[in-house]
Amino acid sequence: MSWNTSDIPDQSGRRVVVTGANSGIGLEATRELARAGAYVVMACRSVARGEDAADDVRRTVPGADLDVRELDLADLDSVRAFAEGVEGEIDVLVNNAGVMAIPRSETADGFETQFGVNHLGHFALTGLLLDRVTDRVVTVSSRAHEGGEMDFDDLHGERDYARWEAYGQSKLSNLLFAYELDRRLDAAGSDVESLACHPGWAATELQSGAATNGAMELVMRAANAVVAQSAADGALPTLYAATAPEAEGGDYIGPGGLFDMRGAPEKQRSSARSRDRDAARRLWEYSEEATGVAFDLPEPEATA
Ligand SMILES: NC(=O)c1ccc[n+]([C@@H]2O[C@H](COP(=O)([O-])OP(=O)(O)OC[C@H]3O[C@@H](n4cnc5c(N)ncnc54)[C@H](OP(=O)(O)O)[C@@H]3O)[C@@H](O)[C@H]2O)c1
Repeated sequence: MSWNTSDIPDQSGRRVVVTGANSGIGLEATRELARAGAYVVMACRSVARGEDAADDVRRTVPGADLDVRELDLADLDSVRAFAEGVEGEIDVLVNNAGVMAIPRSETADGFETQFGVNHLGHFALTGLLLDRVTDRVVTVSSRAHEGGEMDFDDLHGERDYARWEAYGQSKLSNLLFAYELDRRLDAAGSDVESLACHPGWAATELQSGAATNGAMELVMRAANAVVAQSAADGALPTLYAATAPEAEGGDYIGPGGLFDMRGAPEKQRSSARSRDRDAARRLWEYSEEATGVAFDLPEPEATA
């Protein structure tokens, strides 16, 4: 039997933060976490869209324990304000929000937006919340990481910007970060685990953000209708990573069916570049400097 939402353990008493909880995978993950009894902080850049999404969850999960909070990952002031506003312990932080293949723009802090939102915003958020996280951090990457490369000389695409390459770099950064965080937590003797996952291909709003014109949007929507799995199925790897007792730090969870694009979640192997420890350390150091958020964790021991 393949893993599905009926396998989610009772989440009563658990507190979860989900970024980008108003749409797509974040919304469906929120719905199932709430159904299993968790209190979910829906971290959304628009509180109005977040409240609409919370109403949608409550229609299917009456009594869902939800709290919509503002979080704009494209603005470090917003990330800090959000982190200060979250009270108490957090069992699970789900770094889910993302943008894909958009034309070049910059965040409030001057970061290229895909790198800034998908990686640096989540890096800062995790660093600011980590001393309150008790169980695990889940970071949502993508199979697009496989084509991604770290351009440490031009991380923000100032000299040369290609929107798909920038997306690949940001999703590779998600994995380098998730694995490095897990190593540093281990080195600190912490019980907190850091895991990564990817949804395969799920029909969400993500693809429309990548369309540069109406015709491309139509193609994306048609491809979504024919090839993609539902957002609810796309949320399964995230739900497995966030709740399954057998999921462990350093795991990479993805759908095991057709080209790893759809199907039930399983443990998978990410690219060799995503497991490059030198790149992970370099990205970590850069991210601490760029965001001004330092983690109170030791460097992992070097392996032979
Ligand atoms: N769908 C797929 O096939 C697929 C494949 C591989 C990986 N992924 C990954 O899955 C994750 C979720 O994407 P999705 O498919 O569910 O897309 P989606 O429906 O577009 O949802 C993305 C979410 O991120 C939020 N977001 C965007 N910019 C933000 C910012 N600056 N601050 C805070 N939140 C922000 C969006 O908020 P708004 O609604 O306000 O824009 C939305 O809630 C992403 O990390 C994506 O890279 C998806």
